Amino acid sequence: MQRLHGHAGVTQIGELTTPALLVEAAAFEHNLSVMAAALPGRRLRPHVKAHKCTSIAKRQAGVGHRAFTCATLREVEQMAAAGLGDDLLLANEVVDARRLAPVISAGARVTVAVDSELTIDAAARAGVREVLIDVNVGLPRCGCAPEDAGRLAEHARSRGLQVRGVMGYEGHAMALVDREKRRRVVEESMDKLRVAHERTGGTIISAGGTGSYDINPLATEIQAGSYVLMDTAYAKLELPFRQALSVLATVVSVSPSYAVADCGLKALGMDHGNPSIEGGQVWFCSDEHITFKAERPVRAGDRIRVLPAHVDPTVAYHEKMHLIAGNNVRETWTVDLRGW
Ligand SMILES: Cc1ncc(COP(=O)(O)O)c(C=O)c1O
Repeated sequence: MQRLHGHAGVTQIGELTTPALLVEAAAFEHNLSVMAAALPGRRLRPHVKAHKCTSIAKRQAGVGHRAFTCATLREVEQMAAAGLGDDLLLANEVVDARRLAPVISAGARVTVAVDSELTIDAAARAGVREVLIDVNVGLPRCGCAPEDAGRLAEHARSRGLQVRGVMGYEGHAMALVDREKRRRVVEESMDKLRVAHERTGGTIISAGGTGSYDINPLATEIQAGSYVLMDTAYAKLELPFRQALSVLATVVSVSPSYAVADCGLKALGMDHGNPSIEGGQVWFCSDEHITFKAERPVRAGDRIRVLPAHVDPTVAYHEKMHLIAGNNVRETWTVDLRGW
């Protein structure tokens, strides 16, 4: 963490180079405390892929969540190096796990998701001691068939690995706006995970995300990540979390029917669609620019806030994010889990 000081001892957001990633402190604190009340301690295993920032992970640990979910080897390495290695789950398959060996020798507890003999053998060779059997619960991504989970657990045990349980990410349910429909898809998915768990044993059933954090009663731990910063796609679900993340941009050109600011698709994850602008209608984004119709008069030089549609890839484009209160920058955090 780095503290910034402007002329009056406090940096104003107007002094930041744009595009700049902002985190609104009140919304951020609200999200942390609402989730910690709903899923205290180990009931939440926050996914760091959304914020990619050990300063935020430390805040999550500070409200009681000391076990984390990671998506990449780099996230595991950096979380352990930051003193956050009590219980790290690499929730992705890796066919070469050797980078985990020094992390584990240095004292971090690392559990790896596996879905094949190949990934089990790679974990065993790297000195990994604990695994979760990753199960395909309906999202066509990683994960074994539920009926194969028992065989894989046996193979892992034969390689000297402890099987802590199962993992099954119901990602295909996350964005369903209709809560009842979302609940049904989560339930169908968890029926598959239950079958798999009966075959593997172990105490952990790890699943879920921001969209299912309160409608997944099977999971012993929920892997939500987006909740702490939020995006406009998740805002449609009417969850109790507030939009903390925005990208500060500068209006660089104004035409009679539209305006252009310096926040394009190199500063925004666009896979969930266009971002939003309060008081404006977004027409489109190009590499460095966002073109929008302003609903109130704007001039070149004005600062605007762009609300991303997808938090994870947006954050991954930025080196820093700024915690703000009003116009003041309270802290500047390095997005130190970026890269691979
Ligand atoms: C394995 C896994 N678990 C959990 C999540 C949940 O994240 P979110 O809180 O963004 O829904 C994700 C998101 O992509 C994921 O890939």
